[in-house]
Amino acid sequence: MCGTLGVVKVAVIVVAAGSGTRLAAGAPKAFVPLAGSTILEHALHSVAGMRDEPHVIVVAPAELVDDARGMLSRVIGRGEVVAGGATRQASVAAGLALVGDADIVLVHDAARALTPSALFDRVVDAVAASGAGAIPGLPVSDTIKRTADGGAIVETVDRSELSAVQTPQGFPAAELIAAYASAARDVTDDAQLMADAGHPVAVVEGDPLAFKVTTLWDLRRAEELLRPASATRIGVGTDTHAFAQADAPLWLACLEWPGERGLAGHSDGDPVAHAIVDALLAAAGVGDIGTVFGTSDPRFAGAHGEVFLAEARRLVEHAGWRIENVSVQLIGNRPRFAPRKAEAEARVSGLLGAPVAITATTTDGLGFTGRGEGVAAIATALIAR
Ligand code: CTP
Ligand code: MG
Repeated sequence: MCGTLGVVKVAVIVVAAGSGTRLAAGAPKAFVPLAGSTILEHALHSVAGMRDEPHVIVVAPAELVDDARGMLSRVIGRGEVVAGGATRQASVAAGLALVGDADIVLVHDAARALTPSALFDRVVDAVAASGAGAIPGLPVSDTIKRTADGGAIVETVDRSELSAVQTPQGFPAAELIAAYASAARDVTDDAQLMADAGHPVAVVEGDPLAFKVTTLWDLRRAEELLRPASATRIGVGTDTHAFAQADAPLWLACLEWPGERGLAGHSDGDPVAHAIVDALLAAAGVGDIGTVFGTSDPRFAGAHGEVFLAEARRLVEHAGWRIENVSVQLIGNRPRFAPRKAEAEARVSGLLGAPVAITATTTDGLGFTGRGEGVAAIATALIAR
């Protein structure tokens, strides 16, 4: 039909008029909350993501037609809503009355809230290519038994010839409308009516995400799949200070080191604190030590590391993050760090409210640290939402 018509017009009917008795969530199923919106809105997002712009028809419970209209206009911004019937079949029939001049109709259960848009496109393509019905299906992985009343096994069904079918189910519009007009029995999917009317329907590859939310367990699974992966960020920072010429005190890792030669700097020259500040600010994407603590700002002249760390922590938390941990390495010949390592870690961890590990190393006599001209520090910070 693609070849003769050029542009294929597609209508998508989203049936959302069921009551959701098995879910029993206190509202008609399509209007039950799911990850911050509703099952119906999730389904409509899938339709919105289709490659082509179909005509969209939502079939809703009569008392929720206005609610559904609001959701449709928010998510897709076009389309129409109609009241459904007592059975799924009656609801589809109500939607079919509005397909207009569509060439292909897709019927989709709102309850299959997580169906990928690509599955809609795949079904459209299959119908357009074959001119016949196409429905998504997946192989059945459980062994299936046919049982009698009371549970006695009658036979094991050969599962290799079974398909668990899903929606959207796609058909040539005229054939589906005619099949509905001449329907002689109640069915649970549209492919059955098409088969009854003598039309071939093929199964195309389905998608596990097109599972139907039927029970509370399914709803939990959908919530779980929609939960955002926990966000984490890392940042790195370094700082270097030369030993001071004059007789200045040494401040390192927010501790004073009596008897050790001090470091030069606008503030107290604490490279451990400054490297951590840069790592934290970088992780949160809120600037760096130069932009946040300008050297012209008198509040920071001669300030100790704790002032910088407290402000960096505040900025990180203000941006919605919490500090997970920090790792710092101090590079230099002096001071001998090991004797006060535990004290330094406890001090900085306390200031940041997160575990901080501080290690120290020398550079085997190489470079400015090896020559004893100054010390450097490298910090890595991990933050999370
Ligand atoms: N549906 C419909 N009109 C009906 C019955 C069902 O539009 N009278 C829709 C449902 O809203 C759902 C889809 O058909 O999106 C599949 O039906 P099902 O999963 O059975 O949903 P419910 O009938 O709502 O659930 P239950 O059978 O547990 O009551
Ligand atoms: Mg039902």
